[in-house]
Order: sequence, then structure tokens, then C-alpha cells
Amino acid sequence: MRRVVQFSTGNVGVHSLPAIIGRPDLELVGVHAASPDKIGRDAADLCGLSEPTGIIATDDIDALIALKPDCVVYTAQGETRPMEVIEQMSKFLSAGINIVATSMVWLVTPRQADDWLRVPLQQACEAGNASLYVNGIDPGYSGDTEVHSALSLVTRARAITVQEIFDYANYDDYEFTGKQMGFGVSAEDDTPMLFLPGVLTTMWGGAVRNLAEQLGVQLDEVRQRIEPWYTDKRIECKMATVEPGQMAAVKFAVEGVRDEVPVITMEHITRLTADSAPGWPYPPDGRPGVHRVVVDGDPRVELNTHVSHPGLDVTEAGCLSTAARVVNAIDWVCRAPAGLIAVEDIPAAEIISGLMW
Ligand SMILES: NC(=O)c1ccc[n+]([C@@H]2O[C@H](COP(=O)([O-])OP(=O)(O)OC[C@H]3O[C@@H](n4cnc5c(N)ncnc54)[C@H](OP(=O)(O)O)[C@@H]3O)[C@@H](O)[C@H]2O)c1
Repeated sequence: MRRVVQFSTGNVGVHSLPAIIGRPDLELVGVHAASPDKIGRDAADLCGLSEPTGIIATDDIDALIALKPDCVVYTAQGETRPMEVIEQMSKFLSAGINIVATSMVWLVTPRQADDWLRVPLQQACEAGNASLYVNGIDPGYSGDTEVHSALSLVTRARAITVQEIFDYANYDDYEFTGKQMGFGVSAEDDTPMLFLPGVLTTMWGGAVRNLAEQLGVQLDEVRQRIEPWYTDKRIECKMATVEPGQMAAVKFAVEGVRDEVPVITMEHITRLTADSAPGWPYPPDGRPGVHRVVVDGDPRVELNTHVSHPGLDVTEAGCLSTAARVVNAIDWVCRAPAGLIAVEDIPAAEIISGLMW
């Protein structure tokens, strides 16, 4: 039985928390909340379960450390406040508490991460003999496990394309995801964060370089491209209200280039409602989203992953799968040697252990 703390209950945490409460091999011992309206509430209440757990949300990190959990599931917003997150994570790690996280997506490929990020966390791991593992669905599954599955079916690969094609209309996260990606922004407004030079290659370049390294391929360049699509009609959806002339879809990619040809491409096509950017590719069979890998090889392989749930929108189902990517690794991470862990370090059978309960 692993003693676990859930850190935050946002889009992802609201799904990892019931998984921790439900799994017989995990015991919820603490919950962190930053918002004043969540502090003092029962964990069950924070994730929509009816039976109280007796575990009350707190913003006191020292009190959570004093519980001596085996692992923290860290799903607080990370990329907008990385220095604060490094400090919070380091406190747990140096106290000997392992972390599985969806935050700090740069660490999905820890060997590619910049020193400012990797070094302090590695040192904290060593100080506490603890481990840190970061993953998700994208970045994460689509660029690692899904690609590895596709590549296991070919004798030769010429090019790999990874695509997330998603309708974010019902994604209730304008403040971070929506604003950053530029939804509701017109061409004359300030440049959205995602469009700034180097941002995309920071977010997805690690996965491209990591795959190249695993394939033994020397890349000449890792570059980015981005294309906005502006609506001529008003769009109202949960993510945002978009006026005519404002951006309602975006296509962007990070490409690993060899001999002037992109050989590893990580592409996103993200729209608000199905009517946006009608000329761009859609998920197959009228579905609202897909995580797709296409290998141009011998043979050609195409894997289309669709996550869905009767009670959830497709973006929420994606957050549920993101939670699964890390909750399922808790036991292995607790047994792992100290340091930053990548998905390829974990034997595949280890992360399905305990899933069928
Ligand atoms: N790789 C993937 O596929 C993938 C997919 C989805 C998300 N993610 C990553 O996972 C993380 C969580 O995503 P999300 O959509 O769940 O985020 P979110 O809902 O926007 O925020 C999660 C929580 O972060 C906490 N928070 C925000 N600002 C804070 C601050 N200044 N101090 C302390 N806590 C703060 C809040 O906690 P309280 O509720 O306690 O106030 C909030 O609920 C992000 O870093 C995101 O990039 C990765």
C-alpha cells in the first residue's frame, strides 16, 4: 500500500484524486489546495465523490511532508510558475518523498531538459534518495508510448508524424491554455505566448530530440512552424467567445529535420468548434479528437488513439488519461533509484499492475 498526497485539484487533479481514493493499493493521506475556497474541504468533495474521506485539503506543505507519504501526485499549474514549482517539488524530494507529476511538461523528456530545471531537481532527488517522474497524454503518450508501439511494427522508418487533432471548445481553461494558444486574439493584438520564437521547440522539441536519439538519427535542425486561423463568424463556447477577426483555430508543429526533410514531426491542430478551419485535417469518423502517429515506413503504420468517457468531454477525458499516465506509475517510481525518470526507464508491464480493481 502506497501512502499518497494529491497536490491540487484542477483539470487533471480532479481525476487523479478519485483514482487514488479508489485504488486498493493506494492510500490517500493528504491533499493540497491553493485556492482559499478549497482549503478545509474534504478530498471527496473536491473531486465530486459523495462519501467523505476524512482527508482535508490544506495549503501547508510542511504539514503534508510531516505525513511522510511515499509519493506526491503533483498536478498544479507548472509552466507559468516554474521557479515556485521547483522549490515546492524540491522540498518533497529532499525529504525523501517521490513525485509523479503532469506539471512541468519539459520534464517528460528529462534528459533533454535545460540545466536550470534539471539540475536543482536532480540534486533534490539525490539529497532525499527520491525520484521524480513527469508524463501526460501530449506531451507524453503520443510522443513516446504511442510512437514506440507504431515503430515496433516496422522494419524501417523513413518519417514519423505525431498529431494531436482536438476540438478545445469545451475545455474550460481560457486563462492558461486558451490565452497562451491565442484563441480570441486578433492579428493586431500582442503576440500570444505560444507564437513567441522558441516556445514550441521548448515544449515539444525535447520529445523530437529524444526520439531522434533513441532512433540513432542525427538531426540537422529542430524547427517550429505555426499558423493561425481567424474566424469570420462569432463563436461561443466554454473555452471562450471569439469575435469575427479573432483566432479560432491554430496549427503548429515542431519538426526534426535531416537532409532538409522533416523526419520527426510533432503537430497540433486545435480548433474551437468543428466549424473552424474547415480546410485542415479532422479526426477520423467525426470524432472530436485524436492522438495519431503515422510512420512512413515498411509497412506504413497509422495508430489513432481516441479517449472518451460517457460523463466527460473529450478534453476532460484527455485530462483523465493524463492523470492515469502518472498515477499508474506510482508504485514503480517509489521503488526506482533516485533521480529524474523517463517513461522509457519504466518496464511497460509495471504500469499496468494494479489497474484492474
Ligand atoms: N502532458 C499533458 O498531456 C498534459 C495535459 C494536461 C495538463 N498538463 C499539465 O498538468 C498541469 C495541470 O494542468 P491542469 O489543466 O490541471 O491545470 P489547471 O487546472 O489550470 O491548474 C491546476 C491547479 O494549479 C493550482 N495553481 C494554479 N496557480 C497556482 C499557484 N500560483 N500556486 C499554487 N497552485 C496553483 C490550482 O490549485 P487549486 O485548485 O488548489 O487552487 C489549480 O487548480 C499543467 O502544468 C499542465 O501543463 C499536461
